[in-house]
Amino acid sequence: MNQHNDKGVALITGASSGIGAIYADRLARRGYDLVLVARDGPRLEELAARLLADTGITSQVLRADLTEEADLARVEQRLRSDATITMLVNNAGVAAGGPLVGGDLDRLGAMIDLNVVAVTRLASAAATNFVARGAGILINLSSVLALAPEQFNGVYSATKAYVLNLSLSLHQELSPSGVQVQVVLPGATRTAIWARAGIDVASLPASMLMEVEEMVDAALVGLDRRELVTIPSLPDSADWEAYTAARLHLGPNLSRQLAADRYKAVPHATAVA
Ligand SMILES: NC(=O)c1ccc[n+]([C@@H]2O[C@H](COP(=O)([O-])OP(=O)(O)OC[C@H]3O[C@@H](n4cnc5c(N)ncnc54)[C@H](OP(=O)(O)O)[C@@H]3O)[C@@H](O)[C@H]2O)c1
Repeated sequence: MNQHNDKGVALITGASSGIGAIYADRLARRGYDLVLVARDGPRLEELAARLLADTGITSQVLRADLTEEADLARVEQRLRSDATITMLVNNAGVAAGGPLVGGDLDRLGAMIDLNVVAVTRLASAAATNFVARGAGILINLSSVLALAPEQFNGVYSATKAYVLNLSLSLHQELSPSGVQVQVVLPGATRTAIWARAGIDVASLPASMLMEVEEMVDAALVGLDRRELVTIPSLPDSADWEAYTAARLHLGPNLSRQLAADRYKAVPHATAVA
């Protein structure tokens, strides 16, 4: 892709609706050219035309089902080989509600394919390209449910906890090479994801539901501040820092030669006659 600006090209997965579409709008306004990835080609073309008219930036549409091996491989290849790509917004995802017992395992498996496998492969492909150039930005979309597994379908929250952990580890791996990693943990945000999961968004308390523009704009403020973890609705960053400090405090005791004294078997009292 020919680069028309000094920002380079941002590749956004799941750009056809919701959070991804607003990232496309905001990054276009920041002067990025775009590669727009999703399954719905006509919606991506429509977005590309609107962004061209509104901002003058160029978008390329890459229609792909990221749960299909061949499609995923094409997007990976693009991320690995296109030196104009300076940012990946690893955003495409689906949700599913309900319990695991009696759940639709094919559907849950497809969710893992998209939310975990595709996210991992795309992050690796982009990171390989960025490390070679000593620069690049990787944004991964997690969820606050990564921190609150009791509140939703366990598989969905587990996929998002995976994205959080992957991002924390990738930051450690990539930051010495000049690659910026950000993981965004939105709370409930008004997008099509809810209806697609069979959940009526109107059933959520209005005070818990953020508009998608508000969410993405806050996430981009976090990006500009070079935050590793951005939780748009969290008022006090000290709360996240305290949580991280408590986690790290466990560190020295998480792996030791001997079991903790509290697990030492108490010898059975000898039978009293
Ligand atoms: N909305 C929330 O409350 C919320 C909260 C926390 C985190 N998130 C996360 O934010 C991300 C974006 O979600 P959203 O709320 O914007 O949902 P959305 O409006 O449903 O958008 C999801 C996007 O992913 C794409 N997608 C779905 N399946 C795909 C597949 N197999 N291959 C390629 N693309 C696919 C969809 O496009 P096509 O259908 O055209 O393929 C769409 O562009 C997700 O990772 C989600 O987990 C959302």
